Amino acid sequence: MAIFNPFVPSFKINPYLQYSRLRSDEPVHRSMALQAWILTRYEDCLNVLKDIENFSSDGRYASGEIGRAVREQRKTAPLGDVDSLLTVDPPTHTHLRGIINREFTPRRVERLLPRIEEIACELCNDIDVLDEFDLIDSLALPLPVIVIAELLGIPPSDRQLFKEWSNKLAATTDVFNSEQAIKEAQETTQELILYFSDFMNARRRFPEDDLISAFVHAQSDGVELSDDEILAFSILLLVAGNETTTNLIGNGIMALVNNQKSFSLIKENPNQISAMVEEILRFDSPVQGVVRIAKNDLSFDGTDISAGEVVMAMVGAANHDPEQFVDPETFDINRLNNRHLSFGLGPHFCLGAPLARLEASVLFKEFFKRFSVIESARSDVERGGTLLLRGFTKLPILVKK
Ligand code: HEM
Repeated sequence: MAIFNPFVPSFKINPYLQYSRLRSDEPVHRSMALQAWILTRYEDCLNVLKDIENFSSDGRYASGEIGRAVREQRKTAPLGDVDSLLTVDPPTHTHLRGIINREFTPRRVERLLPRIEEIACELCNDIDVLDEFDLIDSLALPLPVIVIAELLGIPPSDRQLFKEWSNKLAATTDVFNSEQAIKEAQETTQELILYFSDFMNARRRFPEDDLISAFVHAQSDGVELSDDEILAFSILLLVAGNETTTNLIGNGIMALVNNQKSFSLIKENPNQISAMVEEILRFDSPVQGVVRIAKNDLSFDGTDISAGEVVMAMVGAANHDPEQFVDPETFDINRLNNRHLSFGLGPHFCLGAPLARLEASVLFKEFFKRFSVIESARSDVERGGTLLLRGFTKLPILVKK
């Protein structure tokens, strides 16, 4: 019988070994510890994410203890009764996403380019004279927080507060969260609600070129987001967009530290940065798993799955499936047909994918312009993350010009 044990320290360092064993021994695996089905094959993950008839994003449908906990949390949490894009199924999801897509457009993201370049340059200026620093603290963490704050319209004076809120919320993105973490996240949400409510009122009177102004002013046009839906969406952006992008930047630099040939290649051909970002996403995905609930009793690849059971599509494992990717354990910035699943698939495909790609590309470009050598520093790295997220909380590196 195949064993999946994400609680051992070696899993945090390298989950791909366990994924690989599971994929060949038992690709649809029942984890008793997680009370969930674990999928490690590319095709299986893809099928689950596409199949909205049989798989739900709404945790309230889960049977047993998990469903009870989600339902209880939704009853007591601030904004718990408001539909959140990430956890609602079509047709409500289609309606909500349609409204959000009208304001969160590729054009709005493109318009951010000069600001992202400026922020990346400022952050790199701060480390320019150093030859050793923590990449997470100096670059990977601040960039996405500042960008989302500016996208929403948060003034620079509130940035630190915003960063703290974001960190506290990120602490509850695990499958099982401690009561303390849930309590802290609820308190943080309460503070964010107060903050954003005032902010929305201010923007109603004096609109600016930011997302909150766009949402509150769209309200007067008819069927639009309610105040609570705007609040829930703004808070979702903090949870969904910050730690994930931090992980992309950190995992990317680590991949280059361990693959110096790729680093030399990219220094010679900076126009390949976009392809490199896609390979980082595939090779060491910031999001490792996406959770769904079976809506019906079904037979999946010959395995019976009952309605209400939790299914984890491990996209981090799917991205290393040799049936889909040639030589999957090799970091190859020239890889063709890189159809990784790191941003999910189907109706819930990551809304912030263009923004995450842009932020990472801009920062890497600025970073590679300045440094010709990157190596691991002597002090230890620290891994954060959860079963579903993968990244560093500390990544000390040495650089030379
Ligand atoms: C490298 C960085 C990122 C990764 C790997 C990532 C990954 C994902 C994945 C896998 C999903 C699908 C979840 C599901 O199907 O249940 C998702 C959804 C989402 N992401 Fe991202 N994300 C990233 C960055 C961002 C950013 C920067 C933002 C916003 C500024 C963002 C906002 C969202 C939102 C709002 C959703 C929900 C979409 C929906 O349910 O319709 N993400 N992301």
